[in-house]
Amino acid sequence: MKRKVTKAVFPVAGMGTRFLPATKSVPKEIMTLVDRPLVQYAIDEARAAGITEFIFVTSRGKGALEDYFDRAPELEASLKAKGKTELLKVLDDTTMDSGAIAYVRQHQALGLGHAVWCARHLIGDEPFAVLLPDDVIAAETPCLQQMVDAYAQTGGNMIAAMEVAPEMASSYGIMDVPPSIGRVLPMQGMVEKPAPGTQPSNLAAIGRYILSPQIMRHLGEIAPGAGGEVQLTDAIACEISERQNVYGYRFDGQRYDCGSKAGFLQATVAFGLARPELGEELEGFLRSIMAQRRAAE
Ligand code: UTP
Repeated sequence: MKRKVTKAVFPVAGMGTRFLPATKSVPKEIMTLVDRPLVQYAIDEARAAGITEFIFVTSRGKGALEDYFDRAPELEASLKAKGKTELLKVLDDTTMDSGAIAYVRQHQALGLGHAVWCARHLIGDEPFAVLLPDDVIAAETPCLQQMVDAYAQTGGNMIAAMEVAPEMASSYGIMDVPPSIGRVLPMQGMVEKPAPGTQPSNLAAIGRYILSPQIMRHLGEIAPGAGGEVQLTDAIACEISERQNVYGYRFDGQRYDCGSKAGFLQATVAFGLARPELGEELEGFLRSIMAQRRAAE
């Protein structure tokens, strides 16, 4: 029988250099999309998919993340005294049951694969999800929920897949899959950041995974790969050749790469437009600024 996925790993130990100087003191995952930090979107998605144990892989300078999920007694008391019950409710999503959240340190940024491996003792012998909070996905059914549903049918390992333009393939882990229009795609291989023109398909892995505990074993054995980093992709490729039980999952939804400035700005506009209290004003502003730009051309 397939075991239920109840644990999720959130690797947040990267340095976030694309957002310097902001990330000198603010963890990338705390940066705000409208009024919620990126990490809140990932936690909400994980909760909706049935995750009950949240494991953060952190590094030096990420203290703001731990504080974010703690109680804020003074703030709560002050809001309560002022009768601001709506604001108090907003804080509800940020609190976690005691013991539901754990933090492990990645002492050196040796790569995403190494970060996931740092959680091995907390994962033990169970399947687990991995969510990268800088990939934010807008979807009617949250992406991880879609994957959990598909995983209930297939078991094995499941990786969110998204089509990318050929010139972008060398920035992603690319899946080797037979041509298919289906959602669940059996993978024959996977390659991290392929040299231009050598990609086996146009399907890229993005930051949602359901993985079997064997992946931890591969991560402990593989050598550093692309960019000198321990690559999660390489551990997945090992699993494909040993067990052929890895699937790409073509999810339904819009992914924003909030690890890049352009992606973060696009997400800000899209999420702002989707907010009932902001959408109309923001749309009016965007229309007028675009009209001004066109008039100036
Ligand atoms: P990125 O490739 O976006 O790297 O990592 P980064 O350091 O966060 O950002 P840039 O490229 O310097 O701007 C993808 C995910 O893997 C995590 C990151 O925190 C992010 O969630 N990661 C990466 C680690 O946890 N440890 C690492 O050693 C590398």
